[in-house]
Order: sequence, then structure tokens, then C-alpha cells
Amino acid sequence: MHRRILAPGALAAASLLLAIPASAASSAPGAPGIGDPYYPQYGNGGYDVSHYDLRLQYQPKTDELQGTATILAKATQDLSSFDLDFLLDVSEVRVGGVKAAFTRSGEHELVVTPKTPLAKGTQVTVVVRYSGVPSTKSAYGFNTWHRTPDGAVAADEPEAAWWWFPSNDHPSDKATYDVSVAVPDGTQAISNGTLASTSSKLGWTRYNWRQDKPQATYLATLALGRFDITTSTSEGGVPVVNAYSKDLGANDGAARASVERTGELVDWLSGYFGPYPFSSAGGYVPNTTTGYALETQTRVYYSPKQFAAGSNTSVVVHELAHQWYGDDVSLKGWKDIWINEGFARYAQWLWSEHEGEGTTRELADYVYASHPADDPFWTVKPGDPGPDAQFDLAVYDRGALAVQALREKIGDDAFFALLKGWPKEHAYGNASVADFQKYAEQVSGKPLAALFDTWLFQPSKPEARGSASSARSLTAKAAQPKSWKKIEATNDVHAH
Ligand code: ARG
Ligand code: ZN
Repeated sequence: MHRRILAPGALAAASLLLAIPASAASSAPGAPGIGDPYYPQYGNGGYDVSHYDLRLQYQPKTDELQGTATILAKATQDLSSFDLDFLLDVSEVRVGGVKAAFTRSGEHELVVTPKTPLAKGTQVTVVVRYSGVPSTKSAYGFNTWHRTPDGAVAADEPEAAWWWFPSNDHPSDKATYDVSVAVPDGTQAISNGTLASTSSKLGWTRYNWRQDKPQATYLATLALGRFDITTSTSEGGVPVVNAYSKDLGANDGAARASVERTGELVDWLSGYFGPYPFSSAGGYVPNTTTGYALETQTRVYYSPKQFAAGSNTSVVVHELAHQWYGDDVSLKGWKDIWINEGFARYAQWLWSEHEGEGTTRELADYVYASHPADDPFWTVKPGDPGPDAQFDLAVYDRGALAVQALREKIGDDAFFALLKGWPKEHAYGNASVADFQKYAEQVSGKPLAALFDTWLFQPSKPEARGSASSARSLTAKAAQPKSWKKIEATNDVHAH
């Protein structure tokens, strides 16, 4: 091949070309939404974030949060302006060091207009200075910032980021994070990844957390309060950091007896899903009153309620399974939620079998038999449930049933190769249900369109599963597996 050597003059001309800003004529505002049909306003168009640097300070007494977000991004079109999703009060925005104009629009849009338009392909640094009381801010009439007696927690799905940092709030734009938070001495700040360092000055302690692998915005979490932090390393070598509110009362023992199993369960799941994808694992249990758990990356959020009926390793397995199915490989659009919840629920079934509390087949038979054909359960299509049914029970239970049907169709060898291959195939990326079907067909060598359609996309009860026909299952109800109550305790209706 003929190589051309660029003369210094040509190089200078090339870099000059790069420095020329987009002309006002070709540039246009970035879209206020990233194009997800479930949530048209979520995320934004025209740029892609690679890193969030959040330097924050929080006062638990008043719920005042202030800070500076430094966002590294790349313009994906010629941009005259772009949006960030955010609810707190902004005092200054700089783009490439230069003060930018900003205004509010819609329910949660911060519209930023740089002094000069940004050319497609340009790397930009956006600095946002802000402050506010997150518990006083709402969008669409709701607020997911959980105030606690000793602080607050940001953890919800799909909406959590708006209350604590400006972002491109959609799982398809993943980025790394440095989260540094100063809190009054005696209060702890918990976030994702590794606690790189802490420092103390004039009554304030600063916690510096680092997430060095791509992370979706809804998987970023922040907990501020009085916590007992425990650290350990799993037998397989994964560092574990857990935190427990000092006010868990009667749930304290059961919470610890569950979440302290994290290292063991991460190692156990690695046997099915491959090496743990992140630099640390763990969870935290704050003194919130919510009912759900959430797979916040490396640092799972658990509500104390999950442990109100005693310890529950099943919920820990569910949230840790998401570290591979949901966090490492994230959904492309919110319609792809089955890849998250169907597989996290299936991991609970595998754990049940491991514990001798019911096999995956028994659990599948039980779910199939428990819902008669006219049960609205079957009208939910796990492969595209719609925003109102995104966290419907059917996404989980019918979703896991679909996984079992797939396993029975392709056989254990192909199935377990698939389970382990998927996180490798799309490591740190995004994928859809269609991508999964394609990959399953590739690994198994079988056409699977009919199977996926029957179990994930038809609004009706499949006629038969395994050897049981629908008619028979109505008369002969399968017995409830021993693990059922614990698996069920993971369920929670979507808060809004
Ligand atoms: N992904 C979570 C889980 O299955 C569900 C969160 C539901 N969200 C909510 N606000 N209830 O573990
Ligand atoms: Zn889940």
C-alpha cells in the first residue's frame, strides 16, 4: 500500500480545519430526547458522554446539595445548543471553558447554548455549577429522591439522576464516573465503584468514589447518611464494600445476613455468567421506606423492607445477576427490559435449585400453572411491555419462563454457553432483545423466531410448556416451590 507522508504544512492545515467551529447555518439544536419511544423526553440528542466528574457537598440537616459537574462529551452533530436532564438550580454553565447561556424547558431539560456552535466530532468539556434541595423538586408530578432521617438516597429506575447531577439520562449513553462528596463528619457518602480515598477538613469528610467501567445514568447511586461500612474480598478475588444504615432496627441482622453473602454469591454467579465485570461489588441498606431493590452498578440498593421477613439471599442473587445482565450489558432502549429482569429472575430460579428449594423446571411449571389463560398476566408482552408495564410481574415471571422455554428448546450445553457468552459478546455495551435472539440462534444453531414470539411477544398464554398443556395445568396445579416466598419478596410495583 502506498503511504503518503503529510508535509508539516498539510498537518497544520488539517488541525486548523478541526478548530473551525460549525457554521451557524449547518448547526442545529440537539433533540430534547434521545429517541426512546417509551420515554420520548429522556436522554438527549446530539452528543455522547464519556465521563462524569461530580464534586459535591451535602448537608443532611437541610437536604441542600451543591456541586460542580464536569462532563466530557463528544458532539455527534453540528450543535447550536444541547440539553441536559436536570432539576436542581444552575448558576453557571461553561462549554470548553467559555460561559454558555442556559435556560429551562419541558419537565427536566436544561438547554445549553454555547457561545459558538460545536462542530460534529468535537470533544467538549461542559461544566455545570449547581445547588438545590432535591426533595423539593419534581417532574411529571413525582420525585424519586428518598429523604431519610439522617440524609438521602438517589436510587430509582428509570429516573434518579435528575435530582443529583445533570446528564444525558438514558442507558444507551454510558460513561465512567468520579463522584466526590463532602458530608459533615460522622455522615458517610456511598456511591458506585471503589472508594479511592477519604479526607477530612474543618468538620467535613470527603468521600472519593471511582467507577472506572461504563455505567448507565440510572445505575449511578448516591447515599448520604450514617452508615456502618464493611469491606472484604471474595474467595474469587472480588473486593466487596457494603454499607448498613445505623438505624435498621429489627431488620439489621437479616440485612447483614443477606448482603454479607455478596462475595460468595458473586463467585457463584461467575460460574454461570463468566468473570465479574467490575472492580468491586457490594450493596447498601439505607433507612428508606421504599419496597424495591435496584441493581445500582457495583453497589446495589436494598430497601430494609426486603429483609423484614428475615434474611433473603434470593434478592441478593437477583441484583447481583443484573451486574452482568443489565449493568455490564445494558439495554439499548427501555423496551428491552426483559434482558434485565427475565435473566435476573432466572438467576433466582438457579439459586433455588442450588439450595434444594425447587428446580428451575418446577418453578416454571408453577408460574405456568398459577396463571389461567384469562389472567391479565398473559396480556403483558415481556419482549415489549410498554412503559406502564415495564416492571410488571409478568416481565419477571413470564420473562423467566421464556428463559426456561429457551433452555428446553436448545438444550443445556447451548443454553449455558449462551448465558456465559452474552456478557462477553456485548461487554460494557448495549444490546436489544433482537440482538439476544440473533445471538441465541448463532450459539444454538437453531431458528428461534417462533419461540421468542410465543413466549415474549404474544399477548396470550402459550398453549403448552414442556409436557404440560394449558388445559391440564388448570386442573392439576403444580405445588408451590419452597423458594417461592423469597423470590416473590423481590417483587415491587413500580412506584409511579
Ligand atoms: N430493576 C429493579 C429490580 O428488579 C426494579 C426497580 C423497580 N423500580 C421501582 N421504582 N419500583 O431489581
Ligand atoms: Zn431486577
